Amino acid sequence: MSLIDDAKAAQGKAYAPYSNFKVGAAVKTPSGAVFAGVNVENAAYPEGTCAEAGAIAAMVLGGEKEIVEVAVIGSSDEPTPPCGGCRQKLREFAAPDVPVTMMSRTGKTLTLTVGELLPGAFTTDFMD
Ligand code: THU
Repeated sequence: MSLIDDAKAAQGKAYAPYSNFKVGAAVKTPSGAVFAGVNVENAAYPEGTCAEAGAIAAMVLGGEKEIVEVAVIGSSDEPTPPCGGCRQKLREFAAPDVPVTMMSRTGKTLTLTVGELLPGAFTTDFMD
């Protein structure tokens, strides 16, 4: 099973009654473990959380802190890209060369790296 299949399996469980835009995400760690997440919306709209954030939270709870692969699937016609905030969240745990596979609702895919999605990222390097 590919990582996008894990994201797809999670997507059905998304809680998106306001946007009706269900998103599933999955991250893989060096151990081969996979952690999935979904978007969880809220009546107070800004309190909603993205699928990538859920997957990252599950990974950290699972005791892991490095991402080697990412997959995201949304309900869009074109492959669903991580939002800006999620790009930064992913970069916290993923090196610039980590692949991010995005999929549309029709199965169209696009793979870019974390570095391509977020060039010039702010990282701890700037805090030394
Ligand atoms: N969404 C995600 O879960 N991940 C993204 O990277 C893009 C946007 C969610 C947030 C919201 O629940 C819905 O998609 C519509 O913006």
